Amino acid sequence: MAQSIRKVGVIGAGQMGSGIAHVCALANFDVKIHDVAADRIKQSLATINGNMARQVSKKLISEEQRQAALQHIKPAASMDDFGDCDLVIESATEKEDIKRKIFTELCPSLRPDAILATNTSSLSITRLAASTDRPEKFIGIHFMNPVPLMELVELIRGIATGDQTFEASKEFVGKLHKTIAVSEDFPAFIVNRILLPMINEAIYTLYEGVGNVEAIDTAMKLGAHHPMGPLELADFIGLDTCLSVMQVLHEGLADSKYRPCPLLVKYVEAGWLGRKTQRGFYDYRGEKPVPTR
Ligand SMILES: NC(=O)c1ccc[n+]([C@@H]2O[C@H](COP(=O)([O-])OP(=O)(O)OC[C@H]3O[C@@H](n4cnc5c(N)ncnc54)[C@H](O)[C@@H]3O)[C@@H](O)[C@H]2O)c1
Repeated sequence: MAQSIRKVGVIGAGQMGSGIAHVCALANFDVKIHDVAADRIKQSLATINGNMARQVSKKLISEEQRQAALQHIKPAASMDDFGDCDLVIESATEKEDIKRKIFTELCPSLRPDAILATNTSSLSITRLAASTDRPEKFIGIHFMNPVPLMELVELIRGIATGDQTFEASKEFVGKLHKTIAVSEDFPAFIVNRILLPMINEAIYTLYEGVGNVEAIDTAMKLGAHHPMGPLELADFIGLDTCLSVMQVLHEGLADSKYRPCPLLVKYVEAGWLGRKTQRGFYDYRGEKPVPTR
């Protein structure tokens, strides 16, 4: 029988951590959520509350389910608060040194049998696992954005991930009513290995002046039937995350076809990270998004 998971910790209260806490609480798991910035936890709880209210208004969940789910989520002030968790999911900024530092601080607080997962979009699960005290209990559980809406979760085993960890993670994801795609531990796994080079190419198309933001997004929405244009999607994912994934692909696969577009680098350097900072390939500060090029 797979190890039973009841209490879940989430580290990183950004857009993905909030979404993960949201779906776990609705599936009746007890959830603790932590962030290095205390105000992000507050903001995250407000976002979850608002998103659940939207689900109630769309009759996707009942008001009773919303109330019960909100009761399941508690803020975690420090790593010690994760001492009674069966599973902790790290969903902090996509930077290897940040994730490693979190694991170093977190591991001494965890129960020896607790599973540690990362929601990384691209980094090596094997390498991250090796920086913890529990490589056999470490796994990639990669959610898609926005978590409450997207059906898929990628499961990625590192070289040392044990069968028990894999089976328990599979059972956990099943309880969230998500479908699993198993990926081998290669840079950016399956979805982002295919999706991010497409987005990067759209940014090159903009950079080289083939089309402007509006033309590129319209072309891919109406010409390829994508629900969102690639530049709109890049803003939604976060341009810092897009750049990190391209850097991991470029370095990890040593192929120049993954070279991050210099325009993407420039936007990130400007702090124009997309929706989360109100400006990216679109400016979101007004009533409706306005292309920035
Ligand atoms: N954005 C996406 O579409 C998407 C999809 C799937 C997976 N991911 C992955 O999820 C993770 C989070 O991405 P996001 O989009 O939520 O980013 P985000 O910028 O919205 O949130 C990241 C959060 O991590 C926090 N953080 C940074 N350092 C920390 C630390 N030392 N301890 C605790 N918290 C810390 C930040 O304060 C921030 O609140 C990344 O690994 C990313 O690759 C992102």
